[in-house]
This record gives sequence, structure tokens and C-alpha cells, in this order.
Amino acid sequence: MLNLSSPIAGCMRWGKWGANYSTAEYRKMIDACLQHGITSFDHADIYGDYTTEEEFGNALKQAPALRLQMQLISKCGIQMLNENRPHHQIKSYNTSAKHIIQSTERSLKNFGTDYLDILFIHRPDPLLNPTEVAEAITILKEQGKIKQFGVSNFLPHQTEALRKYISIDYNQVEISIIHLTSFIDGTLDNCLQHKIIPMAWSPLGGGMFTDESHPRFRSITATAFELAEKYHTGVNQILVAWLLTHPSGIIPVVGTTKVDRLLQAKEANNIHLSREDWFKLWIASTGEDVA
Ligand SMILES: NC(=O)c1ccc[n+]([C@@H]2O[C@H](COP(=O)([O-])OP(=O)(O)OC[C@H]3O[C@@H](n4cnc5c(N)ncnc54)[C@H](OP(=O)(O)O)[C@@H]3O)[C@@H](O)[C@H]2O)c1
Repeated sequence: MLNLSSPIAGCMRWGKWGANYSTAEYRKMIDACLQHGITSFDHADIYGDYTTEEEFGNALKQAPALRLQMQLISKCGIQMLNENRPHHQIKSYNTSAKHIIQSTERSLKNFGTDYLDILFIHRPDPLLNPTEVAEAITILKEQGKIKQFGVSNFLPHQTEALRKYISIDYNQVEISIIHLTSFIDGTLDNCLQHKIIPMAWSPLGGGMFTDESHPRFRSITATAFELAEKYHTGVNQILVAWLLTHPSGIIPVVGTTKVDRLLQAKEANNIHLSREDWFKLWIASTGEDVA
């Protein structure tokens, strides 16, 4: 197993889809993360309209030795309608063996590395052929181009169909105090059953807690503030600790562009919420007592 950090730094907003970092700013962010023990970086081929991997790679090329201190994660399978992919005529999914291999090789080139620590299939594809995916992943593993394999946004039946042909190490899904689906649709049970490690994307609701107009802002933040006081910490630390409480070992993928906010998420590793406190937040989110 890989020694991933918790949190994983989500890089979706580092480039064109957010902070628009210069190469120097990417480098500063990478250095700061590594200094503080945040060693895992989550990407996808499509981030920044297919530009973020390469921008990150440009910073990495300035100090190639840093590659050995980090885990690089990327994804493939979504084909965006985009000027950087002029041959795409519509947005669609592609999990053919050819696409998986070509996309991975492009990611490696973008990062200037010869392996990814984890490759994900980004979305369940209605045309996904499990034997073909398994073939591509096996080839990539044998060539040393990927170390581990995961799926993203897969429901248990989709994971099961694929798991018959290839072992799955991770499922990256949306999980947060405002997105509880994985707790009740069997996704986390499936992870527990097969020792698949869940990763939570948008673990802080994609920034929802800075938006006071959100309908559930008040009830959730009121409870989170109460718990933050009780545990002598901050609200964001509590909301991440709430995810870490689950026995499946959720790893949060935090998408902030600010190091101090990644460090807040890291502090959550030292907080152990009681069962009743965990349920206080659950109830604040659902608006109902448990049955
Ligand atoms: N597999 C998938 O389908 C999928 C889908 C979406 C995302 N992802 C991955 O998940 C990562 C996280 O997603 P996300 O960015 O939507 O989720 P997030 O971590 O829940 O939210 C990050 C956003 O919240 C803001 N924010 C405000 N206060 C914050 C705080 N105290 N701590 C952290 N963030 C705070 C950040 O702004 P500032 O930058 O100003 O802090 C940023 O805009 C992405 O980077 C990507 O790697 C995967």
C-alpha cells in the first residue's frame, strides 16, 4: 500500500479553474505541502481544461528530486468538449483500453515522471467493458507506469462488475456533511467489505461553509461551532474529523489553494469525535433524529 497523506491536496483549483498559479506559485505550494507532510497530490487529465497537470509538471521539473517525496494521482475517462481537444465533438466518456493507456502516457509526459502512484477511472461509463479496462490497467502496471488503480464516483454494483476482472484499491466519491449519499447507498459498505479505500472529494462542500445563504449553513455551522469549542479546534477541522471517524478510513481530498487550510484539515487527524458528537452533526445535516 502507498503511504498517502491525509489530507490529499486536491489540485483541481490550482490552475485555470481557480487560483491560476504561476510556475513559481505552484512550486511554492508544492514545497509548503511537502514541508508539512502533505505528500499526495490529486489531479485529473481534464483539470484546467487539460492544462493543470502540465503546469504542475513544469514546477516539478525545476526540482525533479521532489518527485520521490510525493504521490501523484491522476484520472482519465472524461472527454471534454474543449479547444485543447479539438477532435472531441461532444462531452463523453471513454474507458477503452486505448484511451486509458494514451491518457496515462500523456499525464506522465505532463508531469515529467515515469509513473503515477494511482490512476483513477473518473466516472462510471455506460459503455465500460470490464475486461478491456482490466487489460489496460494490467499493461500499465506491468510497464511500471502506474502503481495502483482506483475508480471514482462508482456505485457498488459498478465496482463489483469491474472487481471481478481487476482489483480496485480506491473509490473517490463526493462525501461531506452536506453530501451523505455514500453513507447510505452502499458505497462505504462496499469499501469496507473489499478493503477499498474511500477518498472524499469536496470534503468541505466545495467551499459551502463560506456561503451563509446555503439552506443548511445555519444548522450545520451552529453544531460545528459548538463542537469546535468543545474539542478546542476550528470548524473546518471538525468537519474533516467527522469524515475520518468512519471505519472505512476515508481520506479527504481537500481542494483549497491555501496551505493553512490544508493544515487545518491535517489537524483533524488528532481529533477523535465521540459517537454522539458524530451523530449531532449527522442530525444537523439531515434535519431529522435517527429512527
Ligand atoms: N473525482 C471527482 O469526480 C472529483 C470531483 C471534484 C473534485 N475532485 C477532487 O477533490 C478536490 C477537492 O474538491 P473541491 O475543491 O470541490 O472541495 P473542497 O475541498 O470541499 O472545497 C475547496 C473550496 O472551498 C474553499 N474553502 C473555503 N474555506 C475553506 C477551508 N477552510 N478549507 C478548505 N477549503 C476552503 C476553497 O477556497 P480557497 O482556495 O480560497 O481556500 C475552495 O474553493 C479537487 O481539488 C479534486 O482534486 C474530484
